[in-house]
Amino acid sequence: MKFFIDTANLAQIKELNDLGILDGVTTNPSLMAKEGIRGEENIIQHYKTISDLVKGDVSAEVISTDFDGIIAEGKKLAKINSNIIVKVPMIKEGVKAMKWFTDNNIRTNCTLVFSAGQAILAAKAGAKYVSPFIGRIDDSNWDGVQLIEQIANIYAIQGYETEILAASIRSSLHIVQCAEAGADVVTSPLEPILGLLKHPLTDIGLAKFLSDAKGAK
Ligand code: G3P
Repeated sequence: MKFFIDTANLAQIKELNDLGILDGVTTNPSLMAKEGIRGEENIIQHYKTISDLVKGDVSAEVISTDFDGIIAEGKKLAKINSNIIVKVPMIKEGVKAMKWFTDNNIRTNCTLVFSAGQAILAAKAGAKYVSPFIGRIDDSNWDGVQLIEQIANIYAIQGYETEILAASIRSSLHIVQCAEAGADVVTSPLEPILGLLKHPLTDIGLAKFLSDAKGAK
């Protein structure tokens, strides 16, 4: 399973990149606004900085909701760097646009996916990635991880090549569950990824090894 970081924060992207386990980045308009990146030129520049910094795929989201607008924006975003993935919402015009991008060799990430039916449509449109928002599903008292499992089963049965990119991650446990459920990629904020490191027995064990090593000197 690939690890993407779900942020537009450069320090956090660098931190995970330095660790050597970063496979890509996802962003969205809310994450860009959180970093104070506003205005088309600044947003394009920020995507350029991120996509120069990391080797893997970087999702850049369109904000148009009509076919022509999505195509125009997507073309502009795709030109920034070869590792840019155009992120398109799961709406009717979005599906049409994703099929157009597929036919024109522009890779897409279908975002705001909350059901298996939507994931089937994304695959039919040839999306490179499909992004089920598992945390938001949990928030509405459904089971987000179960959706990942369902999509993984459907894609395996049907032979769809779209990669399942589990998004809206809230915890380290979510990451483990997504790996178990068959996600191809998980995109997470920094904390749940770093949380995977933690176990009290590791800390206790290391303290003992270090104190014994000191005593043996
Ligand atoms: O990037 C999309 C997704 O990960 C959003 O997560 O936490 O806003 O539900 P969240």
